[in-house]
Amino acid sequence: MSNIMINLSHKTYPIHIERGLIDSIGKEIKKIYGGNKIAVVTDSNVNSIYGQKVEDNLKSEDYNVKTFVVEAGEKSKSVNVLLNLYDELLDFGVTRGDLIVALGGGVVGDLTGFAASTTLRGIPFVQIPTSLLAQIDSSIGGKVAVDLPKGKNLIGNFYHPEAVFIDPNVLKTLHKKFLHDGMGEVIKYGAIKDRKLFDTLLSFNGDEELLENIDEIIYTCCSIKKEVVEKDEKDKGDRMMLNFGHTIGHAIEKYFGYEKYTHGEAVAMGMYKITKNSEAMGITEKGTAELLKQILIKYSLPFEVEALDKSKVLNTIAMDKKNDRDRMNIILLNKLGEAFIKNIDSKLMENYI
Ligand code: GLY
Repeated sequence: MSNIMINLSHKTYPIHIERGLIDSIGKEIKKIYGGNKIAVVTDSNVNSIYGQKVEDNLKSEDYNVKTFVVEAGEKSKSVNVLLNLYDELLDFGVTRGDLIVALGGGVVGDLTGFAASTTLRGIPFVQIPTSLLAQIDSSIGGKVAVDLPKGKNLIGNFYHPEAVFIDPNVLKTLHKKFLHDGMGEVIKYGAIKDRKLFDTLLSFNGDEELLENIDEIIYTCCSIKKEVVEKDEKDKGDRMMLNFGHTIGHAIEKYFGYEKYTHGEAVAMGMYKITKNSEAMGITEKGTAELLKQILIKYSLPFEVEALDKSKVLNTIAMDKKNDRDRMNIILLNKLGEAFIKNIDSKLMENYI
């Protein structure tokens, strides 16, 4: 098993990475939780594959377990689903001494984490991420949220789990589209922080070789995230670099009603577009956009976005919670493996889209 500790000023928690971990999840949770009641939150897809297994495993350690299932998909990160979840958790009689388990991808992790952070002013929770994106990004670092009709993640919190349990074997049942969705974020880590990771991903023959080596890739990504989150938990400095490709990516997702592209696909297009433009402006080393394009193609991710109504995209970007009215931070590459934050006049954003 590989372990990574996240060390914050107010909290420390482990990330455990091991194939087959889900089969002994009861024993693992027993090491960190001496209470009796566990509420498992999962989605309809994950529930049909792992729900019973996790519930039985926890019950074999004598826990009183109840599983709550939300519909799979981004629509479940809504206030309505959240209100319903509060009701169900309270009906189950959870207290601050109990434990909530988020079993699923980014939607389940964000929704459950936000519910855990606000129910009774905070109930401890653990993350068992089952998608690549959740394993390397969203389950770590404490960002939890639900969406509003005005945009994604507009009601949220920083609330860290007690532990993150990552079983790379569960990726075997992940649909290829969602493996590639996660690869958008994996490639991002290489692009902003780790040229060696980027080159390794580029050298793999494809998905098969990727999956053979996925434990190490997950470990590398989680280590980068650890370093960034420890330095800047509240997203005021270095953590913003994790948003490389996201300013345009979020706008693309919203533009197409969150239906046409996955998050990773939108980020892929965002990374390529901003880099193509920053390269043309002489900011980024020549040839960077071409290498990004090659790696995105390798992992079946789109790079070129169809013609967009620029003013609509700019309006969406202007509404992003991270931006002031007049100035905004964008993330650019000096070269592969080296990103930086550029504070620009918001009017200049149109040069980058
Ligand atoms: N997913 C970006 C962050 O955690 O800051």
